[in-house]
Amino acid sequence: MNARLSVNINKIATIRNARGGNVPNVLEAAINCERFGVQGITVHPRPDERHIRYQDVREIKPVVNTEFNIEGYPNKSFMDLVLEVKPNQVTLVPDPPEVLTSNAGWDTIKNESFLKEVITEFQNNGIRTSIFIETNPEMIKNAVKSGTDRIELYTESYASNYPLNKDEAIKPFIESAKLANKLGLGINAGHDLDLNNLKYFAENIPGLLEVSIGHALISDALYLGLENTIQLYLRQLKG
Ligand code: PXP
Repeated sequence: MNARLSVNINKIATIRNARGGNVPNVLEAAINCERFGVQGITVHPRPDERHIRYQDVREIKPVVNTEFNIEGYPNKSFMDLVLEVKPNQVTLVPDPPEVLTSNAGWDTIKNESFLKEVITEFQNNGIRTSIFIETNPEMIKNAVKSGTDRIELYTESYASNYPLNKDEAIKPFIESAKLANKLGLGINAGHDLDLNNLKYFAENIPGLLEVSIGHALISDALYLGLENTIQLYLRQLKG
């Protein structure tokens, strides 16, 4: 089975917010991404609402017919929003509020009881959970104790090492995927995946269920158009 493509539409909101109006329209972007074939929409509301706003998240939910994934750090306001909107999936990231973008995975040992508590709350409300994680076997083994349904492998190191040596770049991700499969954890992946590195990743990661891609895909769409870009990304995921 091919991994699903979930498009992170935060960047559309970043452009919109630069002018304060409603151009480009985030709702239309979500609808069009689906019309052009994506299998999921991802948003990452941050506490300062500098790109996707909490109100956007409420408005996007009813227009998404594929899979709606909300990412973020589980503070009280994020948890309240997710429990109100009830997406298909919540992806928990350990971001401090001021970071530019997610830059680390969870320490599942230090945060074991915190993660377990919030994951239980989401699952009790029918929301699938995923936690952002690095390719550290101890962190992956301990992720099981949190009760999470899936992990999202943080692919920044793969993307930055891919041009140097793609075999070396992917090795830790293959090992992590094998371990996660053995432990019964579903596997998502994301961060810095693009048209150059996606195919090799998807071909080599056993059991990859979903990739979440924002920055590169929206940037490619400036040159290639959104419909064409989505077709190109979907093609990279074809087995
Ligand atoms: N996954 C997580 C947890 C993220 O925070 C982000 C960026 O918001 C992505 C995936 C997508 O990364 P990119 O924008 O580099 O494709």
